[in-house]
Amino acid sequence: MADNHRKPHAIIIPYPLQGHVNPSVHLAIKLASRGFAVTFINTQSIHHHTVKALDQKPDGDGDGNGSYDIFANVRRSGHDIRYTTVSDGLPVGFDRSLNHDQFMASLLHVFSAHVEEIVGNIVATPGEGADFLIADTFFVWPSKVAEKFGLLYVSFWTEPALVFTLYYHMDLLRINGHFACQDCREDPIDYIPGVPPLQPKDMTSYLQESDTSSTCHQIIFNGFQDVKAADFILCNTVQELEPGTVAALQEQKPFYSIGPVFPEGFTRSDVATSLWPESDCSQWLDTKPPGSVLYVSFGSYAHLSRPDLEEIAHGLLLSKVDFVWVLRTDIVSSEDTDPLPDGFKQELGDRAIIIPWCSQNAVLSHPAIGGFLTHCGWNSILESIWSGVPMLCFPLLTDQFTNRKLVVSDWKIGLNLSDRNKTTREEVANKISQLMSQDSGSKFKNAVEALKTKLEEALMPDGSSTKDLDQFIVDIKDRIH
Ligand code: UDX
Repeated sequence: MADNHRKPHAIIIPYPLQGHVNPSVHLAIKLASRGFAVTFINTQSIHHHTVKALDQKPDGDGDGNGSYDIFANVRRSGHDIRYTTVSDGLPVGFDRSLNHDQFMASLLHVFSAHVEEIVGNIVATPGEGADFLIADTFFVWPSKVAEKFGLLYVSFWTEPALVFTLYYHMDLLRINGHFACQDCREDPIDYIPGVPPLQPKDMTSYLQESDTSSTCHQIIFNGFQDVKAADFILCNTVQELEPGTVAALQEQKPFYSIGPVFPEGFTRSDVATSLWPESDCSQWLDTKPPGSVLYVSFGSYAHLSRPDLEEIAHGLLLSKVDFVWVLRTDIVSSEDTDPLPDGFKQELGDRAIIIPWCSQNAVLSHPAIGGFLTHCGWNSILESIWSGVPMLCFPLLTDQFTNRKLVVSDWKIGLNLSDRNKTTREEVANKISQLMSQDSGSKFKNAVEALKTKLEEALMPDGSSTKDLDQFIVDIKDRIH
């Protein structure tokens, strides 16, 4: 625990995926700007990708030798953030996308030993020490590591509170027979505290699937055992987005809604976090009328089936709408890197640009963007709301089904496509037109603008997220001293 002469010191370890690293970096900066010392630990693989992405930018400023410090700029402005890396148990050059199961197995079985060693070293450094460990809720080891080194455990949940509470109440789902029961029950789930009746199809895929033996299932189930021992839970949501769910969780645990956790300037960040080089499409967007372009992206992680990709591609063509498509080279699989239909690119002309990765915040906030065809990753949803952009939802796995329910049914800021393997090019074209049309799309646009205001208010000095972060700081300092 802290001696009286040094700042309270947090060690932050994000889950090594893009959608988890991004909010964790900006949480670290928020805490440092509130007077904490922070040690941020990325895996060596994430670090390597970040530096490589910077090197490949025209104005690349990664030094390419592995010693680049992603927080150097932030430290220059006076924040006390140290940066280091740890092995996830696999060689840096190992293809984690192609060998996903092995990657997950390493995180489940091997990573904790490396974490223990590095946390132990930090805690034992004379004049240093640490007070609390902030680790992603999906990790299976934080409460044990924290206990071993006398640290408080702060769990960071980077998805909505609704998803958290479904996992947290997995036992209720088991008792009531909704757990691992895909397509076998249609009656609503009406017994989760604070959650209005929910259709089983709106649960996360890991709670629906009948085979629960995968490594991902084990990670989630063990992580949610471990989080029961957390001292505090920080959630990248906003109380006004999910008031009932948040209130019910707060009765069970010290739970704080501190979102949206974004870079301070949203489109400008002092810290590089992209794992792939960002293509710049701003000049092309500048030539397009306001609200006329659809942004299409399925995040950093999920894969599309080849037939779904073909239906989406043809639907985009049929829609006649201009678009920017972030098409990762492994979007179908690392072995099928050219999955677009024959002649597709030639038919587009100046109607579209297809790029492997971009600065999503910069694209979403460009005035030309009028809609977002998304897989419903939680960061993408928050970023889209912040930019006032309505969504067309095509969830692929994990929390994305539950996130879609929030977007379409609760907040009414977007439309659904039919599920995987069921959508058709005609449906894609039709729904794009509905979303982007000034008439039929205006109700989504108005609703998303109203929600955007709520997010902005939450981050104001007396807003709900600022107050929750302030309260967390008071509460954790109470426990440290
Ligand atoms: C994963 C899960 O899939 C998601 O469901 C969960 O909520 C978080 O972890 P991911 O699929 O990558 O994340 O989606 P998302 O949450 O949307 O995060 C992607 C991040 O990458 C966003 O912050 C987005 O701005 C960024 N991004 C995406 C880019 O910077 N450039 C791109 O071209 C695409």
